[in-house]
Amino acid sequence: MLKLCVVLCAAVSLAHGLDKLQQVFQWQAVDYEYPTEEMRQYAKFHKDFIPENNLPVGIEVWENKLFVTVPRWDDGVPSTLNYIPMDAATTMSPNLIPYPSWEANQVPSQAQDQCDTLTTTYRIKADSCDRLWVLDSGTVGIGNTTKQICPYAIHVFDLKTDQRIRKYQFRPEDIKEGTFIANIAIDVGKTCEDTFLYASDELAYGLLSYSWEQNTSWRASHGFFFPDPLLGEFNIGGLTFHWFPEGIFGITLTPPEADGFKNLLFHPIASNSEFAVSTSVLRNKTLAESVELSYNQYVKIGERGLDGHLTSHVMDHNGILFFNLIDRNAVGCWNSLNPYRPEYIGHVDMDNEALIFPSDVKVVGDDLWVISDRMPIHLESETGLDFNDVNFRIFTIPIRNAVRGTVCDGPLNYQTPRPVYPPQSFVDNNLLYSTQQYYKPYSGVTPKNLFSRKIIVRPELPSYLTEPETSPLPARRNQLARAVPSYSPSGNTWSYNKFNYNN
Ligand SMILES: *[C@@H]1O[C@H](CO)[C@@H](O)[C@H](O)[C@H]1NC(C)=O
Ligand SMILES: *[C@@H]1O[C@H](CO)[C@@H](O)[C@H](O)[C@H]1NC(C)=O
Ligand SMILES: *[C@@H]1O[C@H](CO)[C@@H](O)[C@H](O)[C@H]1NC(C)=O
Repeated sequence: MLKLCVVLCAAVSLAHGLDKLQQVFQWQAVDYEYPTEEMRQYAKFHKDFIPENNLPVGIEVWENKLFVTVPRWDDGVPSTLNYIPMDAATTMSPNLIPYPSWEANQVPSQAQDQCDTLTTTYRIKADSCDRLWVLDSGTVGIGNTTKQICPYAIHVFDLKTDQRIRKYQFRPEDIKEGTFIANIAIDVGKTCEDTFLYASDELAYGLLSYSWEQNTSWRASHGFFFPDPLLGEFNIGGLTFHWFPEGIFGITLTPPEADGFKNLLFHPIASNSEFAVSTSVLRNKTLAESVELSYNQYVKIGERGLDGHLTSHVMDHNGILFFNLIDRNAVGCWNSLNPYRPEYIGHVDMDNEALIFPSDVKVVGDDLWVISDRMPIHLESETGLDFNDVNFRIFTIPIRNAVRGTVCDGPLNYQTPRPVYPPQSFVDNNLLYSTQQYYKPYSGVTPKNLFSRKIIVRPELPSYLTEPETSPLPARRNQLARAVPSYSPSGNTWSYNKFNYNN
């Protein structure tokens, strides 16, 4: 990979306004590695391959394989799950190779065994146990042309043998009217057996959990999964369009917090807010399915401000979050030692041509990977994409360089372990919070169970503030979110919003 990059990246990066991201591959239109040229021509003639209907949306990297997914939004997409062997790529626009095979990527209606092949894949994830997790939406078409030809299913491949080792169809109860799932996150626990998949239902507003060990799934509902009605208009690449129904989409996991569980970070597309919930909730069927038991376990961690729409995000093992700021043609970052506020949202890179719709971001080891694909022009413009122009690009950059010079760079050295904080206490909204010694949470959200809470009664305050356990005060829901501590690199100063402590 690096050798390839030395040759390609230096030359190509200069051609754009990009400062940091190194372009690895680019295409005007994608093509596939047919066994022979005759077969390609045959496929084109029979409209099994219509190049302009192929839009790559998701990427993943495992060893020398760069995976690229292409959804079947229209006819003529010959294969939805593909890869490029990076060490063997001899051009900047290599052909995609179906994974694990052409047969496995046949449209189910054409395949022998109905619904055993892959219909449409969006975002995919390789885990630390060398498994590739693929969510097949079972759909062809997009928007009002969508046809559900197979049920939503999870396919898991062993990357070492390229064999499928698990197929699971979601239960009918997991799927609602209008369900659309395009994003997954993989939570490997203490062992490879102890793994969960989480999937966001963008248009029926749910969050699904699948347990590898139990081979079953369940569904959570929450108000935070819905779009913000004030943020339904988008302006990208000169187009204005209205994706107002788009709810929970990007999901990613923090490293484990002090309680051993990770936090799942999530956000609706029509929104500029970021939310979190502990995997201790999502992993527990009883808890996840019960709105009553779990509603207050979900927290808002902050807002990105104007032009803060995003679709994909990913957190690295140091607690740096990377995401696609789709309104700004930029890749953004946030260091979870900082509060989640507009001034702490950094720009890794931006470019009004090369980064129109950075559709997917992935962290692989200590490198960040990005694909941009001009999706809104493909979906929303009258004319579609101009295939004489470069439309699809894949970039990479070492994370160390990605955060350098941004607000995401900070006291966290990539080699040093997380800091341990001494016992703390603070007062917020008339409550006294105190902690034992604890590790700084990666997500910016301190798990509730680390704080013991005492109510301070001040006579001059309204009585409902003295009874917070039953208070209907809506602000209480976000109390912990507002109490997120921030770390000041210059000294041992802790600030809990307006409360400052020196030690
Ligand atoms: C689908 O939506 C498009 C535009 O969004 C519209 O032009 C078309 O008529 C719709 N088709 C149907 C069958 O509703
Ligand atoms: C998991 O559940 C699916 C049902 O969707 C079933 O077909 C499959 O055999 C199960 N796998 C295992 C390992 O139990
Ligand atoms: C799941 O949550 C319920 C309700 O809080 C609790 O009673 C149960 O012990 C939990 N199960 C596990 C395995 O932690």
